[in-house]
Amino acid sequence: MKLRHLISAKDIFDRPFIEELFKEAAEMEKRVERGVLIKDCEGKILAALFYEPSTRTRLSFESAMQRVGGSVISAENAADYSSAKKGETLEDTARMVSSYADVIVIRHPEPGSAARLASVAHVPVINGGDGSGEHPTQALLDLYTIQKELGRIDTTTIAFVGDLRYGRTVHSLLHLLPLFRAVQVLLVSSPELRLPEEYRTALQKHNVAFEESSDLLSAVQKSDVLFVTRIQKERFPSEEEYKKLKGSYTIDDRTLAALKKTAIIMHPLPRVDEIAREVDKDPRAAYFREAKNGVFIRMALIRSILT
Ligand code: NCD
Repeated sequence: MKLRHLISAKDIFDRPFIEELFKEAAEMEKRVERGVLIKDCEGKILAALFYEPSTRTRLSFESAMQRVGGSVISAENAADYSSAKKGETLEDTARMVSSYADVIVIRHPEPGSAARLASVAHVPVINGGDGSGEHPTQALLDLYTIQKELGRIDTTTIAFVGDLRYGRTVHSLLHLLPLFRAVQVLLVSSPELRLPEEYRTALQKHNVAFEESSDLLSAVQKSDVLFVTRIQKERFPSEEEYKKLKGSYTIDDRTLAALKKTAIIMHPLPRVDEIAREVDKDPRAAYFREAKNGVFIRMALIRSILT
């Protein structure tokens, strides 16, 4: 299977594609560690068009592109410093950037923006996060992390905690779980931040077992993966509504005491106050390892799209 664009995790409907990508990512990691120069994408250019803040996604894409031999052009504050500020439409920007680069990564506050860009771009488009929609490359690196840390994805119990309503990383990862066997999903959130219906319907349709609850501790006891998310402040209609829900779930030493010895804690980062700093030293805290995996997965992905 060859991807043209990667807009939604639903574009990946095939487990062999994921397995091949993971093999490639592991190979990329080995080569980076040994200092082997990779030149597969020499002469190719990646454009990073970022209309929303980002540290990991943009820098790891840029690092990944350079590590496979390509180069990068970047608009890191595109809402203020690109021609969008002058009123240019996303579609017009896409047409232009298509002639400057061989692949475009876009992050934008509106759901559906990456699809709009892809509909007019002449080169592959990768969604680096479209508002509260999706973040498919994060889902790939998250799955890769689970596979690497636990040795399997099949038969795992994964608890998603926090902002399931606006959290695009959760949305994309849930779309990929039907590709695996006997995965159990626990959805832990306040009623206001419940997983939107379209994702619950998709889980049902694909026979992925899931339970919703607001009880963190009982989910923690059953989990192999505790996937914690930040409350997405920037998506709330008002600051007051955000403040009401801020800090509703916190992972700390008490949570660790209830967590299986073999489980891991993940978080797409950045964290605010949902994971206490004391958790970082526990070997089950996998979030910094997870972020590192992003470079290798993105190297493998860029190679698979461009070569
Ligand atoms: C996430 C995002 O931007 O959706 N960060 C990331 O890409 N690693 C999560 C978040 O902002 O909470």
